[in-house]
Amino acid sequence: MTMYKLIATAAMGLEAIVAKEVQQLGYKTTVENGKIMYEGDEEAIVRSNMWLRTADRVKIVMGEFNVYSFDQLFEQTKALPWDSLLPVDAAFPVSGKSIKSQLYSVPDCQAIVKKAIVEKLKYSYKRNSFLDESGPTYKIEVAIRNDVATLTIDTSGAGLHKRGYRVGQGEAPLKETMAAALVQLTNWRPDRPFHDPFCGSGTIAIEAALIGQNIAPGFNRDFISEEWPIIKKDLWEKVRQEAESAANYDQPLEIYATDIDHKMVEIAKENAIEAGLGELIQFKQMQVKDFTAAHDYGVIVGNPPYGERIGEEEAVETMYREMGEAFEQFPTWSKYIITSHPSFENLYGKPATKKRKLFNGFIRTDYYQYWGTRPPRKDS
Ligand SMILES: C[S@@+](CC[C@H](N)C(=O)[O-])C[C@H]1O[C@@H](n2cnc3c(N)ncnc32)[C@H](O)[C@@H]1O
Repeated sequence: MTMYKLIATAAMGLEAIVAKEVQQLGYKTTVENGKIMYEGDEEAIVRSNMWLRTADRVKIVMGEFNVYSFDQLFEQTKALPWDSLLPVDAAFPVSGKSIKSQLYSVPDCQAIVKKAIVEKLKYSYKRNSFLDESGPTYKIEVAIRNDVATLTIDTSGAGLHKRGYRVGQGEAPLKETMAAALVQLTNWRPDRPFHDPFCGSGTIAIEAALIGQNIAPGFNRDFISEEWPIIKKDLWEKVRQEAESAANYDQPLEIYATDIDHKMVEIAKENAIEAGLGELIQFKQMQVKDFTAAHDYGVIVGNPPYGERIGEEEAVETMYREMGEAFEQFPTWSKYIITSHPSFENLYGKPATKKRKLFNGFIRTDYYQYWGTRPPRKDS
């Protein structure tokens, strides 16, 4: 067992949620723009990849140092213990970025880091000839910010938003990680109804169902570090088995996913079936203005069109008004709407109880929260 410095990367605005998830796995965190840092062993790497719903990736920090010249970059990179992770046949592409630093030529930094690691491995494995890189892949990144270089290795491979269930999608699908964050920012509990009235490809409803039954988001995919010799195959097996026992497939759920576009409803259904949740989510073609609910104290999470496309604005504004009127009929329900429209609250007809700034990709949005009335206390 070796201890590693780990980073779970987070989209702007989601740091606190990712940090909470890492803490729930039992690790102490520190947060620094877009990065949640913690320490853990091989099992921490496997569990983080399997369970983090809102992080983008999990990376190992190999080293961090001040750097002002290419020589320093070369020597300090070479001094790091690459041979403790990379076998002699490792394939290791190097990517890079540089912000506000003396070493600003990213291709040069990448080439130097590559050369330094090659030198280190040749020395450690006593090779004179070139390394054929025919083995497992280690995606290395050199990120230089304010003259501090951070060298990391990605343990996830495809971003963690790729759960493996999205076989179809519409025009503006939410990332699965963002959809999971939207659900986690609500007061929803699995014993309450849940409704996404703008379901598109179904991402929010599917993430809610995964959360509701405590199904690990990484259960149906693989990770680049599964090929690495430092993490034993049994460890992956053990964590997958633990995830299987932790899943609560008996938890009944009342989740609705509706959309004005019947083609999207079909796509959402296919995705839910792919996720193994086909029976759990109730799909229907419906306009938001026809929203209705059979039970009280539910939660609505919606990602409507933002009205940014030319010609779309007026229709979207009318729809926001109709949405406000329809939702007002259900005061026990909590409503959560993400949009970049600057006049959302006016159109909806009411100021939000609370709003939170979020980035949906590069679009700055607000997450408008309208809290429903509380259920009466059981003892009164
Ligand atoms: C931004 S997309 C939602 C994407 C979805 N969150 C996903 O991950 O795929 C907005 C959706 O709202 C639907 N929509 C537009 N107007 C609507 C209305 N009046 N009532 C219900 N749905 C509507 C569109 O068909 C579209 O699928």
